Amino acid sequence: MLQPQNITEYFINEFLSDGDCAVDATAGNGNDTLKLCCAVGNTGKVYAFDIQESALTETETKLKENGIDNAKLILDSHSNIDCYSIQKPKAVLFNLGYLPGGDHTIQTKYNTTIEAVEKSLEILDNNGFISITIYYGKNSGTEEKEHVMDYLKTLDHKRYTVTVHDFYNRPNTPPLTVIVTKNSGTVI
Ligand SMILES: C[S@@+](CC[C@H](N)C(=O)[O-])C[C@H]1O[C@@H](n2cnc3c(N)ncnc32)[C@H](O)[C@@H]1O
Repeated sequence: MLQPQNITEYFINEFLSDGDCAVDATAGNGNDTLKLCCAVGNTGKVYAFDIQESALTETETKLKENGIDNAKLILDSHSNIDCYSIQKPKAVLFNLGYLPGGDHTIQTKYNTTIEAVEKSLEILDNNGFISITIYYGKNSGTEEKEHVMDYLKTLDHKRYTVTVHDFYNRPNTPPLTVIVTKNSGTVI
């Protein structure tokens, strides 16, 4: 049964199969990169971005521990995704905010996040999805959340479906996950 906290995992399982291409736009500690690598198998390819070398080192270690060898780790901003000839990814994952256990002052910023989402939509496979998990609250993330959500609202509803998954009855400010898919048929 679908557990709402695993909505991104649900989409990974539904959309990805052996041989696919996928992108982790925020590698961090490598948890999402590992999930994507497993979902696309040995014949697939995962591109994982992070601006922190320590994050990519952590990701590389995690992949090695799990015998995974189908990822390309890229020390660069996800806003430069168009510089890496990534062909039609079936999934692009954004897990916004700062590296858990790392320097909390280094975190995603709305302008580069929006640029990266825009570029990801251009290269996304027609049967693909983008997942954006947004952490926000008292200390950080609120400005980014507002700008990113405002931007997502402007996406043409005839071309894209944007759904927001919220933990409606959880206290404080639980993360939101936004899923964007491309529409292939007629949308009213
Ligand atoms: C919440 S963490 C990601 C957690 C990760 N998905 C995991 O499974 O462990 C956010 C990451 O985004 C990275 N980041 C911040 N700005 C970035 C950018 N412009 N491009 C790529 N990564 C960025 C941070 O360095 C941090 O490691």
